Amino acid sequence: MQVAREVVLIDILEGIPQGKALDLYESGPVLGYDTRVIGTNDYKDTKDSDLVIITAGVPRKPGMSRDDLLATNADIVRNVSGEIKKSSPEATVIVVSNPLDVMTFVTKETTGFPANRVFGMAGVLDTARYRTFIAERLQVSVTDIQALVLGGHGDTMVPLVRYTTISGIPLDQFLSKDEIDGLIDRTRKGGAEIVGYLKEGSAYYAPSAAVAQMVEAVVFDRKRILPCAAWMSGEYGISDTYLGVPCKLGRDGVEEIIEVELTGDEKAALEKSAEHVKSTIEKLENL
Ligand code: LAC
Repeated sequence: MQVAREVVLIDILEGIPQGKALDLYESGPVLGYDTRVIGTNDYKDTKDSDLVIITAGVPRKPGMSRDDLLATNADIVRNVSGEIKKSSPEATVIVVSNPLDVMTFVTKETTGFPANRVFGMAGVLDTARYRTFIAERLQVSVTDIQALVLGGHGDTMVPLVRYTTISGIPLDQFLSKDEIDGLIDRTRKGGAEIVGYLKEGSAYYAPSAAVAQMVEAVVFDRKRILPCAAWMSGEYGISDTYLGVPCKLGRDGVEEIIEVELTGDEKAALEKSAEHVKSTIEKLENL
């Protein structure tokens, strides 16, 4: 679906954004969109963007965790966020760079933008992976699976089994606990599974699809309830960190954080995930 009149791709590598943008622009006549796609190395061409997506940074290599990218990507994301602050002070910013929750924090700190306008993409991707694995295991259409994966984008993510249904039927009516645990484990390692195959680079199509869904929710003010990395100010008893939680996404970005009822174990898992993100932020601040 076409969401914008103009899309600008920017990168420090000369020629790459220009070439990719032209290639995308030339797909318009066949795919039926008339968005102007521009590639550049200069932030002045992005001036006054309404929505900015940050994917800048290096991807992990096989065997690395997302946290191993901390120092390198924090420098890159700080630089990019500083430029966004100058060129598009009113923008809503969606962060995709890893380690996701911490890079979203870096973006908020650097831009000084209000929290509703700075959030991260991860929950939609993690939930998509979880839904894919469930559909594959049950041999049912993935479109009938509703699920929520919360927490940080990493090993501590929290798939909520109680809120996972197949057309409203709880997942535990289809699978045993052990089987569900296996799917959850694969979901936690979903990004690494792809890095393991690719050797160079990380997942591309599913993260892009996930961020596109979030963009559409914002641009068309759809008020979708999607799991996003949002700034926590006491929701779930958690403060001063980004964390994956269900959000209402609309024109104002994260318009609301939805607090679903959690069991003691689920709450403990979410708190543990928040502690992990916080300790990574501290690590960054002490570098
Ligand atoms: C992944 C990266 C984008 O999970 O974090 O594939």
